[in-house]
Amino acid sequence: MFVVVGVTGGIAAYKTVHLVRRLIAEGHDVHVVPTEDALRFVGLPTWEAISRNTVTTSVHEDVATVRHVSLGQRADLVIVAPATANTLAKMAAGLADDLLGTTLLATAAPVVVAPAMHTQMWWHAATQANMRVLRERGVHVVGPADGPLTGGDTGPGRMSEPDEIADAALALVRGEAPARVPVPAPDPARDGDLAGLRVVVTAGGTREPLDPVRFLGNRSSGRQGVALALAAADRGAEVTLIAAHIEGEVIAAARGRVTLATVGTAAQLQDAVTDAASIADVVVMAAAVADYRPAETAGTKLTKEVTGGRLVLELVENPDIVAGLAADRRPGQTIVAFAAETTSDDEMLARARRKRARKDVDLLVVNEVGWERGFETADNEVMIIDRSGEVTAQASGSKRLVADAVWDAVVVARPL
Ligand code: CTP
Repeated sequence: MFVVVGVTGGIAAYKTVHLVRRLIAEGHDVHVVPTEDALRFVGLPTWEAISRNTVTTSVHEDVATVRHVSLGQRADLVIVAPATANTLAKMAAGLADDLLGTTLLATAAPVVVAPAMHTQMWWHAATQANMRVLRERGVHVVGPADGPLTGGDTGPGRMSEPDEIADAALALVRGEAPARVPVPAPDPARDGDLAGLRVVVTAGGTREPLDPVRFLGNRSSGRQGVALALAAADRGAEVTLIAAHIEGEVIAAARGRVTLATVGTAAQLQDAVTDAASIADVVVMAAAVADYRPAETAGTKLTKEVTGGRLVLELVENPDIVAGLAADRRPGQTIVAFAAETTSDDEMLARARRKRARKDVDLLVVNEVGWERGFETADNEVMIIDRSGEVTAQASGSKRLVADAVWDAVVVARPL
């Protein structure tokens, strides 16, 4: 396997020597890409000697091979260890002012980072915001470990052990869950505020088969639902995520952190969520459920020979799953629905209020969508309506930020 190991300027760089040796020993072709700062800790000859490949930090060397993109393009796996706060910030911003930056932007391979920094730097809101961005983009985070740090302090910030990083990265490439659960994005105010709660989140979009090769579907990527599930897990909840057609890259961060069930159609989603809801304290229906399904699913492909020049489909209504859950809710159970609307402002709010009442849910999270908005994007903008019909919160930003706003509203709405 072609493995790129990025090394950035932290004292833990010496431990990365062992990581590179292990990868080499397992037969991988390892290309080390240090930053200039990293070379203050471990010099270039060491990296060349142990990796047995040329090492450079600059995009201006070896230009003929277009090294600044070719390393990223050829990589099957990229590991950044140690990843300093500065490098993580540069990654979140997409900066490419050195060979590691260009390599990271040019790669489609899984990226694993092993943060290493002082505890205060790790807890800083800027670092945590960057980590959220990176996690949402599918970057896999190993560590940091808790323990003694350079300078005598103790706390999270130590780079994980090289073998742990290698195990997690190789498991990831093999398609297994990362061996190590990433450190939750901490927020002291929210830390553990969902502890003891069982929550169910549905995410993605259902597909209703027309024939063996076609379906009626929608554009939901599942990103918001996955962000909700991860935020709840970070805040201490026991989470079941029911996923309908979510791409592997989007769901990867949730693997190992939540109980995952995958479903295809609205009927399958209904069975799974009804089952999970029977012991849940909170149900969040973020999935885009098909309102209708074909009255019949053809057993063989609907070819033009069969259908002729015009095809009229008969659709029948699917049950309103969330309304059914709300009608049968356990005492004290909180139910949250989502509504994606294509109208704006007053009209949208009026519809949302009617929808909340019709479904009898505790909270309705409304967002405006269109071809350019809401779907397949990293960001979202929502309003949250409670039982009184009031807009109790508005949130705009990353899907993780929106997820935390939804859980904040759930905490307020829960019976004492
Ligand atoms: N939902 C559901 N079952 C369905 C359709 C939707 O549980 N058959 C849930 C969604 O998961 C979401 C909420 O209901 O939480 C809102 O879905 P939406 O499609 O906006 O509501 P509808 O009642 O279908 O209204 P509209 O006519 O606006 O589509």
